[in-house]
Amino acid sequence: MGKLEDRYGRVATDLRVSLTDKCNLRCTYCMPAEGLDWMPLEQQLTDDEVVRLVGVAVEHLGVREVRFTGGEPLVRRGLVDIVARSHALGVETSLTTNGLGLARTAPALAAAGLDRVNVSLDSVRADTFHQLTRRDRLDDVVAGLAAASDAGLGPVKVNAVLMRGVNDDQAVELLAWCLERGYELRFIEQMPLDAQHGWSRDGMITADEILAQLETAFVLTPAVEPRGSAPAELFLVDGGPATVGVIASVTRPFCGDCDRVRLTADGQVRTCLFAREESDLRAALRAGASDAELAERWMVAMRGKAAGHGIDDPTFLQPDRPMSAIGG
Ligand code: 5AD
Ligand code: SF4
Repeated sequence: MGKLEDRYGRVATDLRVSLTDKCNLRCTYCMPAEGLDWMPLEQQLTDDEVVRLVGVAVEHLGVREVRFTGGEPLVRRGLVDIVARSHALGVETSLTTNGLGLARTAPALAAAGLDRVNVSLDSVRADTFHQLTRRDRLDDVVAGLAAASDAGLGPVKVNAVLMRGVNDDQAVELLAWCLERGYELRFIEQMPLDAQHGWSRDGMITADEILAQLETAFVLTPAVEPRGSAPAELFLVDGGPATVGVIASVTRPFCGDCDRVRLTADGQVRTCLFAREESDLRAALRAGASDAELAERWMVAMRGKAAGHGIDDPTFLQPDRPMSAIGG
């Protein structure tokens, strides 16, 4: 068994697989209103190719957890089948979704062996949700969350991004809403990954601001468990057991503990969300490479993993592909 070790001794055991770059929302921090030029279908890995590469990662490279992302993974027709076949490899599986259509598919996903879901939800007010996602679909997400919880896809996690002047006054109500329903909320600092390059360091809401807001209504104490490679810093809410997380990718980077590696929908290995280079596994796969050869290529790709993303560095350059094409 090989392992996905980089030059700094970090070993990737958590694989994020993007299944499509398409999405049925248009979150302002991600995409322009008109959407993007979607990836041509022949470039996208087939279901069989995805499962083959997941198998290489699990059986040859020590990957223990696979998270399916997008774009929006629920728009991929073969999702349930991909989950079932990945689960059969004996790996933990989870899904990051915007929740549209989850009400319908949660039971099938649970039956396929999916362990957990993370649902993105930035506001529980219909008008703010519409403003942020450019679609009037709050009710679908709320129904999707409930269905996921009922199907046993828990603990259900909710991801929220706060945008200045839009929902930056809603941290407290989001947390109260999630606590009532037993969902674990995590706030994610906005990162420079939008297709429109609209991010600015001054514009983003920082972890400090989020925590200060939450502390006006709740008592937060750092959760004692060691954070390990988990990106979220966890806090007990009012003494626990409920928690809230803050993923401060920009202001408190956790690159030194990173255990993640990404595979794009078109079969490129990315060692970081912010990597400026990719390694093509699809070409090798389609040229008839063996599992051992694919594993070797993947290990070589890991040696290119940078020590950190350097967002706070003045020379930082945003990656060429937006988040929706990389996978969250
Ligand atoms: N910054 C931070 N989070 C983002 N997401 C999408 N784009 C960005 C960004 N620029 C979030 C989504 C989803 C998760 C995959 O990442 O809301 O919850
Ligand atoms: Fe879709 Fe996620 Fe991008 Fe929103 S952030 S537009 S839900 S891919």
